[in-house]
Amino acid sequence: TGVTVVAVDGPAGSGKSSVSKQSARELGFGYLDTGAAYRALAWMLLDRGLDAANPEVVIASLADFGFSIGTDPDNYFVKVDSDEITEAIREPWVTSEVRLVARVAEVRAHLSNLFRSIILGIDKPGIVVEGRDITTVVAPDATARILLTASEEARMGRRSLELVDQSAAVVGEQLRSRDRADSRVVDFMNAADGVTTVDSTELDFDQTVSAVVRVVRLAV
Ligand code: C5P
Repeated sequence: TGVTVVAVDGPAGSGKSSVSKQSARELGFGYLDTGAAYRALAWMLLDRGLDAANPEVVIASLADFGFSIGTDPDNYFVKVDSDEITEAIREPWVTSEVRLVARVAEVRAHLSNLFRSIILGIDKPGIVVEGRDITTVVAPDATARILLTASEEARMGRRSLELVDQSAAVVGEQLRSRDRADSRVVDFMNAADGVTTVDSTELDFDQTVSAVVRVVRLAV
């Protein structure tokens, strides 16, 4: 297809979601938050009282995972069947369990296929897709491939600002522990061949968006 695919990977707290969404707006592209699908699956298992720690239960649940997501950066929503869970999937009880579904190979294959069909069906000239394995697994042949990084201090600082009711130490430990667990499944800390690193440690939000948009414009 003639769709421009922009793949963005990076660790938790790198500003990936907000930067990807704003870059999509500026480019006139769609936006796909793949982490939301992993979160939504974890939410569904927990909501139904199913054992997310049991891979067989997780795999069986894929058959009735009625997931839908808004790919318009100005109309973002996440649903499972008719439940709107856009906010609920950000809650700590979901964030701490999502690794249980993300580690299952069948889940990754199933969701990666879903992401590829969403990319193919996009009704815009392009789509910004963000996650952990987009540059390497979901869309290795993307038009532009970006690893968005920031120092651990910067990432912890940004996340603490979002989670005002938690101490910096707790936020830092959760972030490190999630990155450690995720890193065992996919390597999103090192740029694969042909992937451009954008380090946002010294950049503000607008500068980071500009850097991403510049990488895309150079690639098309
Ligand atoms: O990006 P976000 O923090 O919302 O992702 C939530 C979780 O989903 C990650 O911690 C990771 O376990 C999983 N994930 C993944 N592969 C992706 C996107 C997210 O394994 N492409």
